[in-house]
Amino acid sequence: MKVKVCVGSNCTLLGSMSILDQIDDLKDIISEDSDSYNDEELEVEVIKCLGYCKNTDVKVAPVVVIDDEPMYNATSQTVMEKIINKIRK
Ligand code: FES
Repeated sequence: MKVKVCVGSNCTLLGSMSILDQIDDLKDIISEDSDSYNDEELEVEVIKCLGYCKNTDVKVAPVVVIDDEPMYNATSQTVMEKIINKIRK
């Protein structure tokens, strides 16, 4: 699974670093519990401004893209839920 986390200034101001920390923790949890989770690799890419915040007046930050599906106003909780739902056995 590919997870892109935006660390552009808008997204960083609104918490993308804490989302990254949570994903790191989740990676450890996943690797230690192969009974509950697929062994699909969690590929995390850190990107400086994915461009979503530039094309709209609506607040979208922080933006996280999971397997090409963008999540706007992402929080640690919504991102963790999405990842876990995809990799849970
Ligand atoms: S700073 Fe994250 S989309 Fe622009």
